[in-house]
Amino acid sequence: MDAPVVVITGASSGIGEATARLLAGRGARLVLGARRTDRLEALAGELGGEVRTLTTDVRRREDVAALVDLAVEAFGRLDVVVANAGVSRIGPLDEQTVDDWDAMIDVNLRGVLHAVAAALPVFRAQAAGHLISIVSTSGLKIVPEQVVYAATKNAVRTLSEGLRQEAGPHLRVTAISPGFTATELVDAVEDPELREQYRARMAELGMPADAIARAVAYAMDQPPGVDVGEIVVRPTAQN
Ligand SMILES: NC(=O)c1ccc[n+]([C@@H]2O[C@H](COP(=O)([O-])OP(=O)(O)OC[C@H]3O[C@@H](n4cnc5c(N)ncnc54)[C@H](OP(=O)(O)O)[C@@H]3O)[C@@H](O)[C@H]2O)c1
Repeated sequence: MDAPVVVITGASSGIGEATARLLAGRGARLVLGARRTDRLEALAGELGGEVRTLTTDVRRREDVAALVDLAVEAFGRLDVVVANAGVSRIGPLDEQTVDDWDAMIDVNLRGVLHAVAAALPVFRAQAAGHLISIVSTSGLKIVPEQVVYAATKNAVRTLSEGLRQEAGPHLRVTAISPGFTATELVDAVEDPELREQYRARMAELGMPADAIARAVAYAMDQPPGVDVGEIVVRPTAQN
């Protein structure tokens, strides 16, 4: 695909940022969304070329709609949405951190639904389009303390497969499950001891975020009519 137009949510750090860097290097036209606009603007300045940014909170339907609208206004079409924005809150269910559960549902699930709602009419009108969601191996191997996070990721896996079945012959739908990837994801864990444990684990095991960016590029690179449904990418040392 020549200079595809790609919307990336959560492009201000980690996997989203790495994806923006890789795709920009391959000539993609990018529309980057996240809440930390300063970081988006710094990234756009560094990448140069055809990059737009917009302050986006994926919990807000209108923000995600505006991000998709910006792509169409700026570049005349929308080829790919990478629904990447996500948060992880870790802890046992007994702790009853219901606000954290809500945060994960709102960002990880509702945020992707907002992307579907915004992009699907554009994809239908073009008779082409590709939704790539970043889910997680946490949904493949269920472990304690990541239960609600895994539940939100598996909800998106289900959404992705359902959309693929409804999509018909023109749309592509992909869910990518990263294993441990060295990013800022665990910085938000509140319990300092748990946060340090996860940070240490990430430092020991974590893949560079670029490993997931390359999976995104692989899914995009397939010829029309070929849909990569799921990709799982783990560090070799992850069990
Ligand atoms: N790192 C891993 O080991 C791993 C493994 C499996 C899956 N994942 C998934 O990979 C995705 C990217 O995470 P990451 O590891 O790259 O972590 P990260 O560095 O913390 O990046 C998360 C991104 O999501 C954005 N975000 C969070 N809340 C948002 C909101 N309400 N609205 C818009 N953007 C929001 C953040 O931007 P702002 O804060 O600027 O809004 C940031 O750009 C997530 O979906 C995560 O669940 C990560």
